[in-house]
Amino acid sequence: MAGCSPDFILDFSASISPLGPPQSVLQAIQAALANLRHYPDPGYTSFCQAIAQHHGLSPQQVLPGNGAAELLTWACRDLAKLGAVGLPVPAFGDYYRALQGFDGVVVPQGIQADGAWLGNEAFLDRLVHRRRSLQLAGLLLNNPHNPTGRLFSKSSLLPLLDQFDLVVVDEAFMDFLPANQQESLVGQVSSHPNLVVLRSLTKFYSLPGLRLGYAVGSPERLERWRRWRDPWPVNSLAVSAAVAALADTAFQQHTWDWLAATRPALYTGLQSIAQLDPLPGVANFFLVCCDRPVPLLQAALLKHHRILIRDCLSFPELGDRYFRIAVKTEAENQQLLAALAVEMAGQ
Ligand SMILES: Cc1ncc(COP(=O)(O)O)c(C=O)c1O
Repeated sequence: MAGCSPDFILDFSASISPLGPPQSVLQAIQAALANLRHYPDPGYTSFCQAIAQHHGLSPQQVLPGNGAAELLTWACRDLAKLGAVGLPVPAFGDYYRALQGFDGVVVPQGIQADGAWLGNEAFLDRLVHRRRSLQLAGLLLNNPHNPTGRLFSKSSLLPLLDQFDLVVVDEAFMDFLPANQQESLVGQVSSHPNLVVLRSLTKFYSLPGLRLGYAVGSPERLERWRRWRDPWPVNSLAVSAAVAALADTAFQQHTWDWLAATRPALYTGLQSIAQLDPLPGVANFFLVCCDRPVPLLQAALLKHHRILIRDCLSFPELGDRYFRIAVKTEAENQQLLAALAVEMAGQ
């Protein structure tokens, strides 16, 4: 549709940091090439130690995965066998794949009511009220939430841990918040064996092709998952990349500085286009409501500007008036805003 190679398209559709992969990670991968003739350490000792140290946990509370998506599969196997699972919607499509793969009973819990977005408190109140009537045993939460970008506070989530048999929190985008602003439940896994937290390294460090994530939970649960899955699900290049990534505090700070500078400007720019209504968000993407069908806008942006935005048709609750865009570099964000202004003015 754009009439050019994909390399010439400015891709706002994938919520991946534009800053990476970090040089430290590329160097670590390069150095690890020599180890390809060996199988990875089956216990993933260096990976588990690095993650455990990062979060102040024991290595037994950490399980590396071939992306958060692989660990989601095992989390959903546990969730599915408990009974009905509450799923805040709109939700990342892979949750359905993983839950339905184990015949899980998914009970969607709308973050919207009568077409309006609920506040966090109102949504969680409704969830707690409905838990009993709907006999929800498990809960699969995403924090910060994709696609809305909203953040649930740790204090608002803690009571849920006493109400559900199992709570799985996907924190794939949590790293984008500076450490003192994160609302992670990772610190609660020692006191709550019914909690699992999933984290991804692919978005923050721009490594989606490498596949890299981890779960934090009770040692007994993670050991069970270990017995279920393939041997060596994480390759040795990914292990070396993870250890280097976690140690690269300069890259982490650079990312937080970039996002603090670019995200507010992009949000204000979107707000200034009359036909658009962006939702405020804490992560590296925005969900935007639009006054016209997004597939038309998407096609026009691609054809006239070689810019790709993400329609939200895979989130059935959102219909065709929403799109999602990643935050990219200042110059790229300005390019998107200029293109949006042109296309909106054109009709
Ligand atoms: C909310 C959410 N969780 C998990 C993932 C998967 O992450 P990974 O690349 O680590 O498998 C994605 C990818 O888009 C996502 O949006």
